[in-house]
Amino acid sequence: MLDHSITELRDAIGRDLPSIASPDDLERFRITYLSRSGRIAALYDTLKSVPKEEKPRYGQLINALKQETEQRFEERKQEIESRATAARDAVDITMPGRMRDKGTRHPITRTMDEMKSIFTSMGFGIVYGPEVEDDYHNFEALNFAPHHPARDMQDTFFVKDDLVLRTHTTPVQVRVMKDRPLPLRVIMPGRVYRNEAVSARSNYFFHQVDGLYVDKHVTFADLKGTLVTFAKNFYGSSIQYRFRPSYFPFTEPSLEMDITCFLCAGKGCRICKHSGWLEVLGAGMVHPNVLRNCGHDPESVSGYAFGMGVDRISLLRYGVDDIRIFFENDIRFLNQF
Ligand code: DAH
Repeated sequence: MLDHSITELRDAIGRDLPSIASPDDLERFRITYLSRSGRIAALYDTLKSVPKEEKPRYGQLINALKQETEQRFEERKQEIESRATAARDAVDITMPGRMRDKGTRHPITRTMDEMKSIFTSMGFGIVYGPEVEDDYHNFEALNFAPHHPARDMQDTFFVKDDLVLRTHTTPVQVRVMKDRPLPLRVIMPGRVYRNEAVSARSNYFFHQVDGLYVDKHVTFADLKGTLVTFAKNFYGSSIQYRFRPSYFPFTEPSLEMDITCFLCAGKGCRICKHSGWLEVLGAGMVHPNVLRNCGHDPESVSGYAFGMGVDRISLLRYGVDDIRIFFENDIRFLNQF
């Protein structure tokens, strides 16, 4: 009678164990078979009605079934739990990776960096000056007449009566000529401001690189040699160039330099207004008044100076057709460089 119950219970356990698939199933199994009110405990109860001499044998059989069940239950429990952790820690290989944004140099910075590296390779140092300038450095020391139109509110942003947002990087020349010993050979890159109507071609701030060389016996030929060397390095050795006489208050004589349009190779296009030429910089010999204003004797030293814009050149080089887009900080635009 008890033999039969034991066999039956062992069979039931053998059927139920493999179908355990979740923590809930585990708990249900434990309550059914292994708890104090479970079916194995019930078998121990029936031992009471077994004849005394048979008790040890049945006792051993039930103990063995209990141990075996506990052990198999424990094994099953471990399997279920490790399956749960594996599922939790599993790598989902279909999940998209984390993208890292790569920085790029701004096109204006790239153009400036290239200009800087050409001039530094020619022995020029780099000097920066303030963007808020006084009238003296921006105009007066540079030999602008008191009523020169550039000093007009129309063209210049005034911070106060005597203080402006610099309209060019040329005032840095005054600072270095006053502060540093000769010989001086520096370029002065930076941002400048003008009260311009904003359009695809012009903005109220832009960038320039000025250059200055002051020493004994600096000549116009030195200036031309430097400009041609720069232009061939920067625009390509096959470009043609020409110098035209010009006027700036702070240089005498003054010139402007044109190069053959690098978009149409001089044939004539919309960009060069069908002339085949692009104006790329202004330059000249430092005016004696400027040398004097900066504490130098024009009888014993001379110098040349030049200045060029960065933004328009960058438009042309990178084929951008609206200058405003340079400063919209649109990542889709900036990522193209
Ligand atoms: N400062 C001038 C401008 O903004 C450019 C320039 C011309 C700078 C001749 C110079 C120079 O140093 O020599 O248009």
